[in-house]
Amino acid sequence: MLRVSVSRSLEVDPLYPYTKERERMEKINLKEKLSKFSDHWSPKVIAEMNDYQFKLVKIKGDFVWHNHEDTDEVFIVIEGKMKIEFENETVELNEGDMYVVPKGIQHKPSAENECKIMLVEPRGVVNTGNTQGDLTASNDVWI
Ligand code: NI
Repeated sequence: MLRVSVSRSLEVDPLYPYTKERERMEKINLKEKLSKFSDHWSPKVIAEMNDYQFKLVKIKGDFVWHNHEDTDEVFIVIEGKMKIEFENETVELNEGDMYVVPKGIQHKPSAENECKIMLVEPRGVVNTGNTQGDLTASNDVWI
């Protein structure tokens, strides 16, 4: 009796305690996930690893200047081309390129045509960093 109530409070199936882990163990396909949304500058979470999230974003046009005071930010270009402007230089990223923006560094991403990218960053990072505005997106939107 005690065992059953403990199991229920943890929402674990006593017959198969790994149910939640099994759900997380589904294969994820980036192209399939990218087909599920079309808005720009609005990151969608597709997976978590420890405290980090993998997010897909479609970008087009100019983003805003911002920085992330507490964390680096990883950009991986899946399809298309993008730029990241810094105070003294601009980096051009093509399909297959990856870039780590160090924490605290001012940056402004942009893409002339739609570009599909993946971000890797800790849970809770706000896309516009230290600035709030129209392009500030909701966090933890899973697809
Ligand atoms: Ni950023």
